Amino acid sequence: MNHEGERLQKVLARLGFGSRRACEELIADERVTVNGETAILGRRVDVENDEVEVDGAIVGIRPDLVYYLLNKATGVITTADDPQGRPTVVEIVPDEPRVFPVGRLDADTEGMLLLTNDGTLTHRLTHPSFGVEKEYLAQVTGVPSRAALRELREGIELEDGRTAPARVTAVEDSLLRITIHEGRNRQVRRMCEAIGHPVVRLVRTRIGPLVDRRLRPGEWRVLTRDEVRSLEIAVGGDDPER
Ligand code: URA
Repeated sequence: MNHEGERLQKVLARLGFGSRRACEELIADERVTVNGETAILGRRVDVENDEVEVDGAIVGIRPDLVYYLLNKATGVITTADDPQGRPTVVEIVPDEPRVFPVGRLDADTEGMLLLTNDGTLTHRLTHPSFGVEKEYLAQVTGVPSRAALRELREGIELEDGRTAPARVTAVEDSLLRITIHEGRNRQVRRMCEAIGHPVVRLVRTRIGPLVDRRLRPGEWRVLTRDEVRSLEIAVGGDDPER
C-alpha cells in the first residue's frame, strides 16, 4: 500500500465526482481503478504518476493543470504582456497558476481561445503536424464567386507558402465558414484578401472538438473533464510522459 500521496476519494471529489462520501461509494462499488487495478477504500494516489480510471475512462488527476476557455472580445491582445498596455487575455482569467494562450487570435478577431499551463497539450494543439481543426466564421466584403471559394478550398499562394486545403462553405452570400488546421499568422484574413474579399469580421467558433455557443464575448469558463479528455483524444491520446 502506498502511504504517500493523496487519498483517492479526496482527489475524485476535487475533480467533481461528488462529495467525498459519494466518491467513497464509487470506490466501494469497484468503479475506480488505479494503474489498472480496482481501487480499495483508503487508497492513496500520486497525482503526478498514477493513472486513475472511473468507469473505464481515464481521469486527468494532476491538480496543477488548469484549462480555461475564453470567448475573446475584439481589442483584447493574445499575449502574456503587452508593452503598449492594452488589455490582454491573461488578465481576464485567474493569475494563479500562470497560464498561457494556446496559439493566438488577432486583436480584432473574436471567439474561442484556450488558456492553460499544460505545455504538452499547447504544443500539440498548435503544431500543424497534429492537424487540429480550427473553424472560423468570416464576414467578408462582397460576394465571393464559386471559383473564389474553390481557390480557398484548394489552397492559396501566400507570401509564406501555399495554404493547405481548407473546408469552406458560404453560410450566407458574404459569410464564410472556413476550417483550417495550420494557424499561420493572420491566415484567414490573408486567404480572404488573396481572393479579393477582405475580412470585415472574424470569429473563431471551434477548436478541434470544442464548441461553446453560450459563452459571451469577454466571458471565460473552466473546461470540463470531458472537454480536456476530448482535446487529448484529438491530439492523439494521453502523453505517456505525463
Ligand atoms: N486567422 C486570422 O487571420 N486571424 C486570426 O485571429 C485567426 C486566424
